[in-house]
Amino acid sequence: MTILAPSILSSDRGRLAEEIKAMADAGADWIHIDIIDGNFAPNLTFGPWVVEVARKVTDLPLDAHLMVTDPLTYAPIFARAGADYVSFHLEAATHSEKIVSSILDAGAKPGLALNPGTSLSALDELLDRVALIVLMGVNPGFSGQPFIPGTLPKTQRLSEALKSKGLAIPIEIDGGVTDQNAAALVKAGATVLVSGSHLYGSPDYAAAVKNLRLAAESAHAPGPAPMA
Ligand code: DX5
Ligand code: ZN
Repeated sequence: MTILAPSILSSDRGRLAEEIKAMADAGADWIHIDIIDGNFAPNLTFGPWVVEVARKVTDLPLDAHLMVTDPLTYAPIFARAGADYVSFHLEAATHSEKIVSSILDAGAKPGLALNPGTSLSALDELLDRVALIVLMGVNPGFSGQPFIPGTLPKTQRLSEALKSKGLAIPIEIDGGVTDQNAAALVKAGATVLVSGSHLYGSPDYAAAVKNLRLAAESAHAPGPAPMA
């Protein structure tokens, strides 16, 4: 089953706790929390307190996505705050092995995130130690950007590479995911779909989650997956 992870970057942040709970009640599987430092990517979002706010209103796995230039400092802070998954960008990581260890030591699951222009080969040395791989479908910073089409063949290449190594690491696609491209992404090997504007922009969260799930699961039906 595909895991659906609404991104609270697109929520009404004046009512953050309510918005997180609403997506949990609507049938979301994980809550995706975008941490952007205004330096690695052009936006400034949340501190570790958001993980604590989310934990008060839901038991769902909390998926922290760190778009920061200093993951060595901030990854363990978010892990200690209670995030279940802490993903950081390899483009920002000088000491990626050390960061993975610090996340594990703090009791969380480490994830590696790659920008659209970063090669999959960057992942190779850490594949045996990580619990999640995040492929960006947009350049990080903002919700509501169009999906970069090269992410689809990249997902397929990663999925094949993991299979050939006998690894079952979840592949998360983040950015530009809608019910138009969900099936193609799942068919290519995506197992976690993040969605910000598509889900939080809907007037009916339960219907939006259900439709995205139906679209994702249609990938397992016979025949070609539709692609927008
Ligand atoms: C982008 C963030 C994404 C973003 C996704 O920097 O990492 O999680 O919120 O938003 P949509 O789904 O609207 O592209
Ligand atoms: Zn994200």
